[in-house]
Amino acid sequence: MPSNENTNGTQAASLQQQIKSRQRVADHGEVFTNPREVNAMLDLVRDESFRLDSRFLEPACGDGNFLIEILRRKLSLVKDIKSPTEWEFKSLIAVGSCYGIELLEDNAEACRERLYGEVVGRMGRMGDLGDYGKSLRYMLQKNIVCGDALTYRTADGKPITFCEWTPIAGSMQFSRRDFQFDFLVNQTHQYSLFDEQGEAQSFDEPVRTYPPLHYTQLYRYEE
Ligand SMILES: C[S@@+](CC[C@H](N)C(=O)[O-])C[C@H]1O[C@@H](n2cnc3c(N)ncnc32)[C@H](O)[C@@H]1O
Repeated sequence: MPSNENTNGTQAASLQQQIKSRQRVADHGEVFTNPREVNAMLDLVRDESFRLDSRFLEPACGDGNFLIEILRRKLSLVKDIKSPTEWEFKSLIAVGSCYGIELLEDNAEACRERLYGEVVGRMGRMGDLGDYGKSLRYMLQKNIVCGDALTYRTADGKPITFCEWTPIAGSMQFSRRDFQFDFLVNQTHQYSLFDEQGEAQSFDEPVRTYPPLHYTQLYRYEE
């Protein structure tokens, strides 16, 4: 029947976009989620997904189907900003709050490139983005980790750490603190304090704290 053929054809095309090869599905469970499902899930946390600095971690991120939609939502909040400097700073707040872990390096790199392309595509600028571009790439390199979310280790066997990027309004700087992923998951290395209401609060210990840097200089953390 023609209508079933169409439906079957559409389903087959959609499935084709969701897998790269049968082998990769068998080896790594690599089946990508389509944008309609991603957005339906993000709508369950709609307010958070439309907040510039809300932090999201996708622990098996593939090439970034969830992270790209989260980034699009965040960047929609800065579309009317006229000042290029303010736009760049805010775009890094958005990028710096998106985190991913992916087992396969080709997927991790594709994810970084997609997120980079999404930001650059909205700038309406071509070519070399100078120090801003270097900082953007550096953030993505740090935030999208090639590693195993189950063993908490990178591809080269080191403990996965994530950077907490905190924007400092007024100075256009970010402060950086690094946290070890397994400590965060297992809630070890925490200390407790009391908040203003006298309620007990737990805080994670960073493994390293850095001095703040201007948003265009973040890549210098590597030097
Ligand atoms: C089902 S796909 C989902 C990809 C993406 N989250 C999406 O919804 O489109 C699962 C992905 O997780 C990766 N993966 C499998 N085991 C993993 C692990 N232990 N740690 C990190 N990533 C893993 C695979 O390589 C694959 O890219």
